Amino acid sequence: MCECCSGHPDIYLPQMATITKRRMLNGTELFLHLEMDSGEDLQYKPGQFVEVSLAGIGEAPISISSSPTQKGLELVVRNVGSLTKAIHKLQVGDKLGIRGPYGTTYPIEEAKGKDLVFICGGIGLVPQRSFIRYALDHRSDYGKIIVLIGTKCYSMRLFREEIALWQERRDMTVLETIDEAHDCWDGNVGVVTTLIPKIENELPGSLVLICGPPIMYKFVLISLAEAQVPEENIYVNLERRMKCGVGKCGHCQINDKYVCQDGPVFRYSDLALVPEAI
Ligand SMILES: Cc1cc2nc3c(=O)[nH]c(=O)nc-3n(C[C@H](O)[C@H](O)[C@H](O)COP(=O)(O)OP(=O)(O)OC[C@H]3O[C@@H](n4cnc5c(N)ncnc54)[C@H](O)[C@@H]3O)c2cc1C
Ligand code: FES
Repeated sequence: MCECCSGHPDIYLPQMATITKRRMLNGTELFLHLEMDSGEDLQYKPGQFVEVSLAGIGEAPISISSSPTQKGLELVVRNVGSLTKAIHKLQVGDKLGIRGPYGTTYPIEEAKGKDLVFICGGIGLVPQRSFIRYALDHRSDYGKIIVLIGTKCYSMRLFREEIALWQERRDMTVLETIDEAHDCWDGNVGVVTTLIPKIENELPGSLVLICGPPIMYKFVLISLAEAQVPEENIYVNLERRMKCGVGKCGHCQINDKYVCQDGPVFRYSDLALVPEAI
């Protein structure tokens, strides 16, 4: 550490982590399990994200999918551009830079004793899985756990084996749907909002946690308003273009909110004056 930074660690300096497991979840999403090279587990809470980097290529925010109750750090990376393409080529033993964790967390304390309803669309299951696993590892702290999962098509479904195990449990309810019918699928067909009437009676007293593609929020929020869920009981996990992740560059700004610091998890009632957010 040099004199000019007055003893403060460099906020842009990543720690190194090593890939200990990797597998494709579908054609575009890569699951990674990482161990920090420091030997210490990263101290994070469900809902937070990390800035993931590869030297000479770039850096991007990626949600944490594991729960702090487990060892190591789990991420899911969709192959969309230069950095994510390079990450997809990495193998077990290769290294990634990790900055963070950053951002707000799911309301893990406030949610204690309450029923939880997770509404997940596509890759939105990735950060929600962190809180789902956390709640399952602290099962007696929470009331009912209901998970609604919507995926565009059969082949894009994430965490299939884990979802099958969740569906076998008697202490949670997991309903899944796909947008388009498929020969191998005899479950619900339709967007994720088609599952909401099946759990409508559970909604009014529950905390509802939503993460999915931008279009999904609009329709889910209409359904929740019809079911008279108070806006204070709804949490949304938003994604915006980010660069620094630490409130310095302004890339993620929506009016007076910085998604990297005020979010990505927002209580919906706090966004009442920020209609651009949804
Ligand atoms: C809080 C947060 C959490 C995220 N979590 C995950 C995650 O768990 N897994 C994951 O795969 N990705 C996640 N992302 C998105 C990821 O950071 C971007 O896709 C990133 O730009 C990929 O870097 P790249 O260099 O590969 O692609 P780039 O070269 O930056 O971009 C490739 C393409 O994707 C588009 N794009 C990039 N970012 C966004 C965005 N935020 N919204 C809409 N379009 C975009 C670009 O316009 C371009 O067409 C998250 C983003 C945020 C803000
Ligand atoms: S990403 Fe830089 S201010 Fe939010």
